Amino acid sequence: MIQVAILGYGTIGSGVYEVLNINKQVIEKRIGDEIRVKYVLDLREFPGSPIEDILVHDVNTILEDPEVSVVVEVMGGVEPAHTFVKNALLAGKSVATSNKALVAKYGAELSEIAKQKNQSFLFEASVGGGIPIIRSINTALTGDVVEEISGILNGTTNYMMTEMTNHGSEFEVVLKDAQKKGYAEADPTADIEGHDACRKIAILTSLLTGQQVDFEDIYTEGITKITAGDIKFAKAMGRKIKLLATSKKQGDSYCAMVSPVLLGSSHPLYHVDGVFNAVFVVGNMLGDAMFYGSGAGSLPTASAVVADVVDICKNLGKNIPYEWSAEKLSLADISSSQKSFFVRVEGSREEKSEEIAAAFGNVEYVTCDEAAGECGFITELISEKEFEENAAKLSGIKNRIRMDQ
Ligand code: HSE
Repeated sequence: MIQVAILGYGTIGSGVYEVLNINKQVIEKRIGDEIRVKYVLDLREFPGSPIEDILVHDVNTILEDPEVSVVVEVMGGVEPAHTFVKNALLAGKSVATSNKALVAKYGAELSEIAKQKNQSFLFEASVGGGIPIIRSINTALTGDVVEEISGILNGTTNYMMTEMTNHGSEFEVVLKDAQKKGYAEADPTADIEGHDACRKIAILTSLLTGQQVDFEDIYTEGITKITAGDIKFAKAMGRKIKLLATSKKQGDSYCAMVSPVLLGSSHPLYHVDGVFNAVFVVGNMLGDAMFYGSGAGSLPTASAVVADVVDICKNLGKNIPYEWSAEKLSLADISSSQKSFFVRVEGSREEKSEEIAAAFGNVEYVTCDEAAGECGFITELISEKEFEENAAKLSGIKNRIRMDQ
């Protein structure tokens, strides 16, 4: 019998317990052994719940029990999760986690400890919830050089952008609605400022390169500056604004960025709405591929955690390998990356066209009947640096949004 401990009985922890129970038969058949949750660690009490009798409050009960071979960390946050996971690996236990903050910061270190101890450290649920993107990068896509990986990696912001698009509402209205429905946290900063998506693209880029990508090095812009006025122009162009986390191959490195992007209807991510996540991958041999599904939620996320547990159980005493060294990857500078920008400016086209031409040269104007007293235009393909230089010559810019396809 394989004994498991779950650290944290919140949304995901209770989901893991449920998935292991509901799918017990099929999971045990796949593992070829019985599996049992011996402990659940949480600071809280859960009287009357199914885990009442296996609840513990001291992590050492788990770490010192030689019968526990698999630890599931679903507490979230960097500490004490990092200390608990590190000690579990050092105690000769394998770990499955959903914790993107932990993986983004300590993925390389924990992978190395797991390797040294002949254990596994798996984290499928840390990016894209239930979407099997990490296993795909580590196995199915290893024959390819990935030229681009772009994702809608945050359900909260995708829900908000979808609502703004569908109802023309302002950002603050949609945020309140998302909080009421439980799609946004009381403190939504990590989601709306793009920090959550940033950690996820850092993890994906680390796995693509086998080197450490520090999330602090990734240019990150959230959705807080997107207004109903921007959405009107997006609609006039037949486009949607999405918060994209992208990583594009540039020489030996990748150019990574998180920002709102205006996508045309031919882009595969254009159609990903609501709380759903999707990851678009371009392989040099594979071409385009897309992974779509639930990026959050108790059971979808737990499903990915349990898949890791199953993998670990099938490989007990062995390290499930993937490449992630502590050697830092120097990301490509975004200032030379080229794209078109959509720009909204105060004043009519007649009033501003001379100034716009002087700053940006040839541009394509966007007609938006609903936008009085302002004009919008699309630049030619220019670098981020050129954009900044040109924009400094133009007064009255209300917003600018990057474009793709
Ligand atoms: N707040 C995150 C999201 C949860 O909205 O995608 C999953 O990481």
